[in-house]
Amino acid sequence: MTAPQRPTIPAPDPQAAEPLYRQVYQRLRDAIAKGVLKPGDRIPSARALMAELGVARGTIESAYSLLAAEGFIQARGQAGTIVAPDLPSQHMPAVLVPPAKAVTAAPSFRPETTLPFQMGLPALDAFPRKIWARLGARCVRAMQPADMAHPPVAGLPSLRAEIAAYLHVARGVRCSPSQIFVTSGYRHSLALLAQSLLQRGDRVWMENPGYPPTRELLTRLLLKPVPVPVDADGLDVAQGQRAAPRARAAVVTPAHQSPLGVSLSLPRRLALLDWAKRQEAWIVEDDYDGEYRYVSRPLPALQSLDRDGRVLYAGTFSKVLFPSIRLAYVVVPEALVDRFERTAEIITGGSPQLTQAIVGAFIAEGHFARHIQRTRKLYAERRAQAVAALEQVLGRSIRIDEQPGGMHLILRLQGRRSDRKLVERMLAAGLYGEALSDWTQGRVSDPAVLVAFTNIASSRDATQLARRLQPLMA
Ligand SMILES: Cc1ncc(COP(=O)(O)O)c(C=O)c1O
Repeated sequence: MTAPQRPTIPAPDPQAAEPLYRQVYQRLRDAIAKGVLKPGDRIPSARALMAELGVARGTIESAYSLLAAEGFIQARGQAGTIVAPDLPSQHMPAVLVPPAKAVTAAPSFRPETTLPFQMGLPALDAFPRKIWARLGARCVRAMQPADMAHPPVAGLPSLRAEIAAYLHVARGVRCSPSQIFVTSGYRHSLALLAQSLLQRGDRVWMENPGYPPTRELLTRLLLKPVPVPVDADGLDVAQGQRAAPRARAAVVTPAHQSPLGVSLSLPRRLALLDWAKRQEAWIVEDDYDGEYRYVSRPLPALQSLDRDGRVLYAGTFSKVLFPSIRLAYVVVPEALVDRFERTAEIITGGSPQLTQAIVGAFIAEGHFARHIQRTRKLYAERRAQAVAALEQVLGRSIRIDEQPGGMHLILRLQGRRSDRKLVERMLAAGLYGEALSDWTQGRVSDPAVLVAFTNIASSRDATQLARRLQPLMA
């Protein structure tokens, strides 16, 4: 009689851009999705898998903790760890297969449960859900048969008008509603923009460090992202001009650079606009969190300085409302409206009309402005609480960058420690973090971990989290 064969998990590739724990996680998820590992099956112990794959124990533990956080596996004490017995194996979500040749690191993951320090989320406890429910019910009741046909591809006229009015007052953006194209998120805006204005092989400046999805999407669209360094004044325009003077576009986060949080200085703003004018290049202003500035009033958008119709302003409702809403927009220069309309006709079927109607009412009735004001104050408090707790508990092992705004903190690791390793340990301990190295092309001289403070509700919670982080720093 032969012993039952344990499924083989392919070893991760140390040369791949994707971190090792992500590769192990993905391989196990694949095995579960394909039914190689079935609900109730015991999975190899961390020690056994560590020996089999030749990777560190922390790597396996990070992968396991991610799988556990997402409900794929369950620890059963002495009995080991098993594939969740109630997992409907026939209905496993499709696994996203990475392209044959991995183009970039994929630093962020989206666990199905929210972890402490989770990036990219506004304060979920602060959203006025009662008001939202009331407006939602009203919009559903008001729906007419005509509203059930196809939505206008560029967005609901009432929402476009509200966005234009809001942007004028809050961000200094001058535009008419016809210049606004509603999309299902920043990446959708970027794709619409690239399809309208750029051609295969075009070079595009992007900030380094910078938001990884920008790089990933540009590459997928067969464009060539050119990393341009960021310093205390934001994107270094002179370096961009040296690296790729004839780039066709630049993607920037001028309000609070993502992830370093610095603001693009006025001289740099003017230099960037001047370069774009001379080269007839496009500037994409990703204003994902411009509202959240704590040291002064929010800075006007870069678009407000543009006299030559070179800036395309990308806004999103993910931070000021919530990410699952999947609504964003891009404001295009007047001269490009026709071109964008034609592209939108081809590549989008419009965005959900009912959600647009609810957001339109939410803005029109003043709830939006009130919510932003309230959360701005709340984030200033939560940020101060988190900084105080982390500094008190972690002492000299970290230094926290002073940033004028934003929704996350940058914890600089003292003593040349690896930010990727710390993030692996954090994930294994059920804490979220992202390594600055994963947001950077090339080496990082000053390793750091990015953590969000928006959902840390009290000083007590902040202290408890800092205490959970402390032993991982050793
Ligand atoms: C730099 C940056 N841009 C844009 C976005 C918004 O993305 P989306 O509209 O797809 O939620 C985010 C969200 O995390 C971000 O960090």
